[in-house]
Amino acid sequence: MGSFSLVSAAARRLEGKVALITGGASGIGESTARIFSKHGAKVVIADIQDELGHSICKELSPQSSSFVHCDVTKETEVENAVNHAVSKYGKLDIMFNNAGIAGAAKLNILDTTKAEFEQVVSVNLVGAFLGTKHAARVMIPARKGSIITTASTSSIIGGGATNGYTSSKHGVVGLMRNTAVELGQFGIRVNCVSPYAIATPLLKDFLTQLDTNKISNIFSSLKGEVLKPEDVAEAALYLGSDESKYVSGHNLVIDGGFTILNTGFCLVPQS
Ligand SMILES: NC(=O)c1ccc[n+]([C@@H]2O[C@H](COP(=O)([O-])OP(=O)(O)OC[C@H]3O[C@@H](n4cnc5c(N)ncnc54)[C@H](O)[C@@H]3O)[C@@H](O)[C@H]2O)c1
Repeated sequence: MGSFSLVSAAARRLEGKVALITGGASGIGESTARIFSKHGAKVVIADIQDELGHSICKELSPQSSSFVHCDVTKETEVENAVNHAVSKYGKLDIMFNNAGIAGAAKLNILDTTKAEFEQVVSVNLVGAFLGTKHAARVMIPARKGSIITTASTSSIIGGGATNGYTSSKHGVVGLMRNTAVELGQFGIRVNCVSPYAIATPLLKDFLTQLDTNKISNIFSSLKGEVLKPEDVAEAALYLGSDESKYVSGHNLVIDGGFTILNTGFCLVPQS
């Protein structure tokens, strides 16, 4: 019995919807592809890791998922990915701009080259711009749609990543807010999800010196849980489903209260 059958037809929150997920071959994107599929969506995985993307689609129902090679920094490839979703499944309801990179682990601006800064901004911010633009192109005539971009707690605070990464994640929130206003008149909702640290390949590559499985436990005020890709996928599921039909322009933070705490001033006794 596959995981597909674990969700009853009545509980399938994305039945009849079509979703495109960039960066869907790994981590948060992969988990989202699995959960969206379980909830009845047709899913297109768009990524530069072709082998991984294809193998995930093989595991999901072949009728309801497909892979398209897409480097989100290239407009023709993003355009093609959106067209692929529409030609294969007839429409696009949910665009999840999730592809991202951490970039070179340089924490000092003087060590950071212009090319390194531009690379992170190009994938994380320009990629989200292109995804939002081409999703809007096909959603506007349909007068509906949900566009979600993966930001980060680095969209709110500084010092949690490199200057390029933090800039790119603040940038996607600006992009989301502006396009939520631009596209609201067409019935299109635009939101962000902002996770704290999760032990995916992206973070493991970046923080090789730390035990990433323990990061949430170390720094978040919420004890007893460790943030997982599925937690972000569940937030994307909410924003992609009709349950969030009046939610737009929102940056949904998934961080166990990390960004609301200033450790320099905290009156709550720590055990
Ligand atoms: N892991 C974390 O701690 C964390 C925290 C906050 C936000 N995020 C964000 O979550 C998103 C997903 O990252 P993840 O943690 O799942 O990492 P991941 O490395 O597991 O997945 C990222 C995916 O993006 C793909 N990708 C990279 N560059 C691409 C490009 N140019 N075009 C298309 N696809 C590309 C990769 O191939 C990979 O499949 C990113 O936007 C990241 O910034 C991650």
